[in-house]
Amino acid sequence: MVAARITVNGKEEPIAPAAPHTTVLDFLRDRGLTGTKEGCAEGECGACSVLVARPGVNKPTDWVAVNACLVPVAALDGQEVVTSEGLATAGAPGTPAVLHPVQEEMAVRGGSQCGYCTPGFVCSMAAEYYRPDRCAHGSEAPEPAGGTDAEHGPNGFDLHALSGNLCRCTGYRPIRDAAFAVGA
Ligand code: FES
Ligand code: FES
Repeated sequence: MVAARITVNGKEEPIAPAAPHTTVLDFLRDRGLTGTKEGCAEGECGACSVLVARPGVNKPTDWVAVNACLVPVAALDGQEVVTSEGLATAGAPGTPAVLHPVQEEMAVRGGSQCGYCTPGFVCSMAAEYYRPDRCAHGSEAPEPAGGTDAEHGPNGFDLHALSGNLCRCTGYRPIRDAAFAVGA
């Protein structure tokens, strides 16, 4: 029998058969990836959101935001997960990591205060950022269906992508501003 494995931030990790009910959240945190937070542990708050790849045939990979507190890690056997840590890319030795565009926008627009919800928000935001039919990065962003309105940014970002993420601090406006600025 082939041992179960999961790829986390580009690194393959074995899944211990002795722990079939371990959640993705506990699996990640046990490996020091503590950016993924536990809030409610029942799928309500989004603090534990991570990205899971849904590779397509002859089309770009679709990244889906998943509540890591609800999914047994064994259910992701053979799949690829990216956490908030994995969104940033390592800088040159001795220099800080380079933030992902969604992290950068959240930082500069004040979308993070206590920060507890932020890793989950950036993962949900990145899933929408990479949605294949939102826009082709590096090319012109299409108008969203229905045009720009309170829930759709000029960059094609659909705010419904963040409906599963809760924040107790910011009032959401700076988060919305970050979402509508990313990739614009
Ligand atoms: Fe997973 Fe709240 S901790 S949704
Ligand atoms: Fe504190 Fe969102 S920044 S919960």
